Amino acid sequence: METWTIQKLLNWITAYFTEKGVDAARLKAEMLLSSVLSLKRIELYTRFDKPVEKSQLDQLHALTKRAAQSEPVAYLIGKTEFYSMQLDISPDCLIPRPETELLVERAIEFLRSRTAQSREMQDTLQQGRISETAGDNVQLVCDLCTGSGCIAAAIAANFANAKIIATDISDPALKIAAANIKKHNLEKRITLLHGDLFDPIIQQLDTAQFDLVVSNPPYVSASEFAALDKNVKDYEPRIALFAGDDGLDIYRRIIEKIDLFLKPDGAMMLEIGYAQGHALTQLIEQTGVFTDIKIEKDINNNDRILTAAKTPT
Ligand SMILES: C[S@@+](CC[C@H](N)C(=O)[O-])C[C@H]1O[C@@H](n2cnc3c(N)ncnc32)[C@H](O)[C@@H]1O
Repeated sequence: METWTIQKLLNWITAYFTEKGVDAARLKAEMLLSSVLSLKRIELYTRFDKPVEKSQLDQLHALTKRAAQSEPVAYLIGKTEFYSMQLDISPDCLIPRPETELLVERAIEFLRSRTAQSREMQDTLQQGRISETAGDNVQLVCDLCTGSGCIAAAIAANFANAKIIATDISDPALKIAAANIKKHNLEKRITLLHGDLFDPIIQQLDTAQFDLVVSNPPYVSASEFAALDKNVKDYEPRIALFAGDDGLDIYRRIIEKIDLFLKPDGAMMLEIGYAQGHALTQLIEQTGVFTDIKIEKDINNNDRILTAAKTPT
């Protein structure tokens, strides 16, 4: 009988995916193999000549077939990587996208610079006596539409002074978020609440106002939804994608309430669709609440992240 080694399988699955038009064929082949063989991706390369057992071959065969028919590999293996963190994933939540890492990056930069500024002020006030304890300068963050909890988890894991409230309307998605938060030991700093946008946040009980509100909400318009790739449209939750005729429904509702929930010098950071920068800038300007509205492009040169600073009163 023919012996299938890791190397041979990796090459075969990659070629099969390429032939079937699956994008990132090599990466997806590596993800399937490393999941079935319980190895890290790098370990596939250090064990290239290892023969693969029959039961594992059968599993790989079934998964490869499903992936070639457009089923997302992250759902097939139940996990993905985001901001260098291993996260659980199920078809109840959106698969975190690499573009969203830019939002996390900007959020962490903002929180760090804010901490540095307030330390400088404290320093001046205390005439040189700076307190270094981790409890100082806690920054309150709200992550609306948290899904798998990827944004909240990445911020909390990389900024020790963040306390985060994350909300989502989908209970099954929140169960995945809870598992991810537990996996990374972030339960003490992230609170998950179930409900519509800001609704589940009771200001007096949970927090007064936030330093930063972040969100990657649903933003796909009706015409874009009809044209989505099969691997997105048929597998990812519609509630995580679709946001009305022009895709701006959820943004409108966030923008309507945000003033109440942001500190006077706080900021809002949103992931946006490639064609929404102009319309959203106008909507936000009309509130009169924000200055310094910036749109940043992703690595594909599409508008992707909107940041806005609240005008201090
Ligand atoms: C685009 S996904 C983003 C998930 C995650 N933040 C990420 O970046 O991968 C949008 C999320 O918004 C949630 N959602 C949709 N409508 C909502 C609403 N009205 N209030 C709160 N969450 C909502 C969906 O359940 C979904 O988890």
